[in-house]
Amino acid sequence: CRVLVLISGNGSNLQAIIDGCDDNVQAEVVGVISNNPEAYGLIRAHQNEIDTSCVIAHQDETRSEYDERLLSAIEQYQPDLVVLAGFMRILTDELVMRFEGKMLNIHPSLLPKYTGLHTHQRAIDAKDVEHGASVHFVTPKLDSGPVILQAKVPVYEDDTAEVLAERVNEQEHAIYPLVVKWFSQQRLKMQNGAAVLDGNEL
Ligand code: GRF
Repeated sequence: CRVLVLISGNGSNLQAIIDGCDDNVQAEVVGVISNNPEAYGLIRAHQNEIDTSCVIAHQDETRSEYDERLLSAIEQYQPDLVVLAGFMRILTDELVMRFEGKMLNIHPSLLPKYTGLHTHQRAIDAKDVEHGASVHFVTPKLDSGPVILQAKVPVYEDDTAEVLAERVNEQEHAIYPLVVKWFSQQRLKMQNGAAVLDGNEL
């Protein structure tokens, strides 16, 4: 399974996925694309001898124009699976539909709670006692595709958004590689808008 990872920043999830694609897993990270040339994840890719591309947004460029360039970059890697790992751009419906059932995202909340940004602060402000992360198939509606796997963490009274984010991030590193592995084993599919693992709707 040819896995392409899209990033914008640190790339700790990218690292977890690279590390998870060991000899026992029929998946290989064949490329990393970043919209940010400064992303630390690009260094991680180089350290692992993985090819990288940067697709930097031009000023005055429309979202469609950007996504057309992004699509060309993606297609060069002929991926079986596109993994969004902290890729901080909203994709056009056209691009998302092009990879229907073949694009995953990780979102730092227990979806359907807290789509969008600032999820950790929002969980703290709401006095939630638990928070977490969700891996889901990407569909046109932002952060609303079928959820595949979630990890929960406790929220403590004195948590700051940063401390909570770190606790969530650690769990992301456990669940994202697992989902990539399931997909590469062809155990995981999107069918009729639902995530299905081993024939069972999740
Ligand atoms: C993660 O918290 C992920 O949930 C969110 O962006 C962050 C990416 O972190 N979508 P990293 O770049 O993988 O370290």
